[in-house]
Amino acid sequence: MLPTAKRLNDVKEYYFSIKLREVRSLIDQGKPIINLGIGSPDLSPPETVINALKNADTHGYQSYQGLPELRKSIASFYQKHYGVDLSFENQILPLMGSKEGILHISMAFLNKGDKVLIPNPGYPTYASVTKLIEAEPVFYNLEEKNQWWPDLKAIEKNDLTNVKIMWVNYPHMPTGSNGNEQLFKELIAFGKKHQILIVNDNPYSFVLNDKPQSILSVSGAKDVAIELNSLSKSFNMAGWRVGMVVGHESHIGAILKVKSNMDSGMFYGIQKGAIEALSLSSDWFDRMNQIYKERRNIIWNICDALNCTYDKDSSGLFVWAKIPSGKKSEEITDTILYNHNVFITPGTVFGDQGEGYIRFSLCIDKDSMIEVLDRIKKMELS
Ligand SMILES: Cc1ncc(COP(=O)(O)O)c(C=O)c1O
Repeated sequence: MLPTAKRLNDVKEYYFSIKLREVRSLIDQGKPIINLGIGSPDLSPPETVINALKNADTHGYQSYQGLPELRKSIASFYQKHYGVDLSFENQILPLMGSKEGILHISMAFLNKGDKVLIPNPGYPTYASVTKLIEAEPVFYNLEEKNQWWPDLKAIEKNDLTNVKIMWVNYPHMPTGSNGNEQLFKELIAFGKKHQILIVNDNPYSFVLNDKPQSILSVSGAKDVAIELNSLSKSFNMAGWRVGMVVGHESHIGAILKVKSNMDSGMFYGIQKGAIEALSLSSDWFDRMNQIYKERRNIIWNICDALNCTYDKDSSGLFVWAKIPSGKKSEEITDTILYNHNVFITPGTVFGDQGEGYIRFSLCIDKDSMIEVLDRIKKMELS
C-alpha cells in the first residue's frame, strides 16, 4: 500500500463518520436505535424552495462566484436580518456549506506552522482542518461560568506572534451560548490589536434565537473579521450544501482564489432554491422555532430524568446538558446507546472542556423523543 501523506498522521476520521457507522450496524442487527446525535434537520424546506429546484433546466457549469442574483439575495438577507451592508459584487462568496469554507479560509490565510486560536469546546473541523494544512491549533478554553465566552485577557497572556486566525462561533455549538454586541466589539478590538483574522461561524443564528446577530454589524469589523453562514440549519437544507462567506473584498478575493481552483459553481437549481429560501419572511423561522421549542421541552424532561442540568436561555439546534458530577460523558452515552438504544453525543467530541456534558439534537420528531423519555425513565444511572 502506498503510504499516505504525513499531514494525515495527526487527523482522525471524523467522530460522527465512525460512530454513525457503528449506529448503522446496530440498526442492521435489529436494534431500535433513536438518533439524538446529529444536527441534520429532519424537516423539509418550504415547497417554494423545492419547486425552484425542480423547475431548474440549466445543467452546465456555473460561475465560481455563484449567480449574481444569489449574491444579491444574500446581500438583502444580511441587510434585512443583521443590518449589515455587503456589496454583492465582491463581499460575498457562496459556498457548498460552511464546512468547506473552513478549509478554503485556512488555505487562503495560513502558512505551515502558523497558529490558530480554536474554541474548546468547539466544532471539531476547525482543529482538523488546521492540522490538515500543517498549521498549529492553539485551543482556548470556554467555561460555563463565563457563559462559554472567550477570556481574551487570559488568551493575551500567551505569545500571539504567529497567530493568524481565531475561530469564534456564536450562537455557539455545542453549548448554545449566544454572543452579544459587546462580545463582538471586544473580539474585533482583539483582532485589530494582534492582527488576527477573526472568523465567526454563524450557522445557528435563526434557531431558537430572538436576536440574530452578525459580527460584521460592529463598526470597522470588516477590517479584521469575516463570517461564515449557512442555509443548512436555518432552512432545513443541510444536504443541499449551500453556505457563504462574507466580508471585506480583499479577504473574499483571497478565498475565491482558493475556491475557484478547487471546485466549480453550485448546480443552478440549488442556487435558485437558495434564492427562494433567503427571501422568505420571518414567519418561516417562527414556525420552525415553535416546533423546536416543543421538542426542546421534551429534551429538558429527558435531562431531568437523567439528573442533568441545562441552560434554558441557549440557542441553536441542540440541548447541552451537564451530567451529574463524578460521571464521564462517554460512559453515560455508551450506557444509553448499548442498553437503551439511544444515541446521544458525548461532550468530549468537542474537546476536553466538553467532559462532564452531553449534547442532544433537536432533529427528530416529538414521538421519538417521548419514546426516549420512556426508555430513560426505566434506566437507573446511579
Ligand atoms: C458550528 C458549525 N459550523 C459549521 C457547520 C457546517 O455546516 P454546513 O452544513 O453549512 O457545512 C456545522 C454543522 O454541524 C456546525 O455545527
